[in-house]
Amino acid sequence: MAIEIKATGRAIPAKRLTNTELPAGIDTSDDWIRSHTGIGSRHIADDAVACSDLALSAARSALTFALEQDGVQEKTLEEIALTLDMIILGTATADYYGCPSTACIIQNKLGAKNAGAMDISAGCSGFIYGLEIASGLLSINPARKRALVIGSEVLSRFLDWNDRGSCVLFGDGAGAALLEKTDNPKRGILRTILKADGSGSDHLMIKRGGSRNCFKSGEVVDIHPHVEMNGRAVYIFAVRAMTEIIAQLMEAEGVGVDDLRWIVPHQANARIVSAAAKRLSIPDEKFVLNIEEYANTSSASIPIVLDELNRGGKLRRGDLIMTVGFGAGLTYGGNLIVF
Ligand code: ACO
Repeated sequence: MAIEIKATGRAIPAKRLTNTELPAGIDTSDDWIRSHTGIGSRHIADDAVACSDLALSAARSALTFALEQDGVQEKTLEEIALTLDMIILGTATADYYGCPSTACIIQNKLGAKNAGAMDISAGCSGFIYGLEIASGLLSINPARKRALVIGSEVLSRFLDWNDRGSCVLFGDGAGAALLEKTDNPKRGILRTILKADGSGSDHLMIKRGGSRNCFKSGEVVDIHPHVEMNGRAVYIFAVRAMTEIIAQLMEAEGVGVDDLRWIVPHQANARIVSAAAKRLSIPDEKFVLNIEEYANTSSASIPIVLDELNRGGKLRRGDLIMTVGFGAGLTYGGNLIVF
């Protein structure tokens, strides 16, 4: 028995903000952003749209896609939602702080009455962690058959738009994957590595709002909670983390570069991907990048790429692919998957 990705989905806010359309007060340029990160634009959610709204759209998109697949008995979105056993959401920008989980809000709106639901906090590695957690939960209980793993972020709401070192890097979006048990031994998630280095936790942080530094009654704040980042430190960590995970996954499964159809990296900075590729002597073309369009959508970045590949006809059943990423925590990891 294996756990395969049955279908994928995504939700991208319509509003697109190019580098040249960034607020005039930010001392930056299209040239700097492109040359240092590969980012050309980002998509921004409307004010009324929260994390669960984007996640719900991505989830519906994946389930609708699933209805068109071979071997799926259900005919409607309502029917297939009832077959879900678990909904796992990776996010750093939940609807509410701490409780309830955003996954429960999605579960209700989806009508997934038979599913358990929970959020995981693993920064941009959320989807990678989510695949392994969901696949473990499906494997451990014969009664469970399907799980949805979603990455969804409204990062634009947690940025200091005066900090040019961070605000130009991020965007909003969501991606989802429907996991299903399969008897086909040639498919599914082959191996996952999950790691963390909490000694770097203060390199990437939303400092206000938690129990360490909560808001007090009557307090007037100068600025809303926002991402604070030591970009250089994260960059150095990220190149090392990506290199380590790719090498370990390939070695553990005896996989060569030519066996891999694609490597789907977290879309944080094209230079990070290039540096890791160079260290491993892997051609840049093996890595799929869409950062130019969406910027860094954190836990959503990998499932958005997967959905683009899948719907674009660039993924075939049986293709071997790898995900690899890193994020706040600091967390890192990757999945080796036979699609
Ligand atoms: N426009 C113009 N200049 C800028 C900008 C900007 N947007 N941002 C920084 N600079 C300036 C700096 O102020 C600095 O100027 P100075 O030399 O006068 O002091 C100069 O550019 C160089 O700054 P560095 O920080 O050394 O630039 P670097 O080449 O490292 O690029 C960057 C910065 C893009 C942030 C890079 O370090 C990076 O990508 N780090 C990783 C970030 C990342 O991946 N974050 C996401 C983590 S995943 C998650 O969980 C959310």
